[in-house]
Amino acid sequence: MNTSYLHFNERDLARAGELIRSGKLVAFPTETVYGLGANALDSDAVKSIYAAKGRPADNPLIVHVFDKAQIFDIAAELGDYAKRVIDCVMPAPITIVLPKNSLISDVVTAGLPSVAVRMPLSQQARSFLRAAAVPVAAPSANLSGRPSPTCWQRVREDMDGRISAVLCGEACTVGIESTVLDLTQPVPLVLRPGAVSAEYLSELLGVNVEVLSDPTSKVNSPGVRYKHYAPKVPMVLDLDDDVDKLCAFYDAKLAEGFRPVLWVHQPHRFGNRRAVEMGADDLQAAANLFETMRLLEQDYDFIIASFCRRKGGAYDGPAGRGVLDRLMRACGHNVI
Ligand code: TXA
Ligand code: MG
Repeated sequence: MNTSYLHFNERDLARAGELIRSGKLVAFPTETVYGLGANALDSDAVKSIYAAKGRPADNPLIVHVFDKAQIFDIAAELGDYAKRVIDCVMPAPITIVLPKNSLISDVVTAGLPSVAVRMPLSQQARSFLRAAAVPVAAPSANLSGRPSPTCWQRVREDMDGRISAVLCGEACTVGIESTVLDLTQPVPLVLRPGAVSAEYLSELLGVNVEVLSDPTSKVNSPGVRYKHYAPKVPMVLDLDDDVDKLCAFYDAKLAEGFRPVLWVHQPHRFGNRRAVEMGADDLQAAANLFETMRLLEQDYDFIIASFCRRKGGAYDGPAGRGVLDRLMRACGHNVI
């Protein structure tokens, strides 16, 4: 298949919309990561997403809308929490899981009685969704098991020849996927942490929003069972920002013949060892996370990451939990 590279002008947006309505796959930018979109009302189109990504068919997809009114077409019912999140938070890097109605097929939800809905904040995402004029099912636009793409060049790396078109827009500013909030239970539950924090949602909803913390649990989010974001080279994670420990680990790997790299806060603290900045704060760490992961695996053969969420520290912000979640998956829970 010949993949077209489209741009944000009227003609190309109209083309992207036509492609979606004719059952084709189009990758597009959002504020979180690039998505791989298909018409959510066309089961064959949605099936082809799973094929293009090599994604297991029991991992459901998020349905993207540009208009709040579209949510009423997709969800069977909206409780008070859902109404409040839709009114006060969306559009934002958040996805809400709601009871689904019959318009959305089992292919989208992997047979679940619920549907995940997201209204992106990015203007580019919204202009694409408006051009599509149908709800768009979209996972992140990476091959299954690879880090999510945060710029169109990374989409090309994974998807060239596998999909009809890529809308080449801006690089993603948030950098980690949306917060997934399950609103099908009496108590709201964060299934996947993202830039919209559980603390913020708790305050907004006046209830203690729980966070699913055990990534091996099968509770409601099939996606969290799969290994994600694995770099091609081994990776370990330190949670203490312990410079001495990190240096000793680096030196040992070097002695074993590896070409290691430290991926840390304030790399100048590590002398002449190869060290790359994780980010000055949690938001920057999130924005750079997946792109840096893809760069490091090209240049090094052992990644020693460090991410410390000490109270009052650099990464003690709203996106910190989301970054830590991705790093834990990337290193396969290999904490040093
Ligand atoms: O930021 C994002 O959410 C990006 C952009 C493209 O919008 N999309 C994204 O999609 O990250 P994906 O497919 O990589 O992740 C979707 C997550 C998975 O963890 C999946 O299991 C969960 O949402 N999910 C989808 N539908 C669900 C449902 N009905 N119930 C529970 N979890 C669901
Ligand atoms: Mg993904």
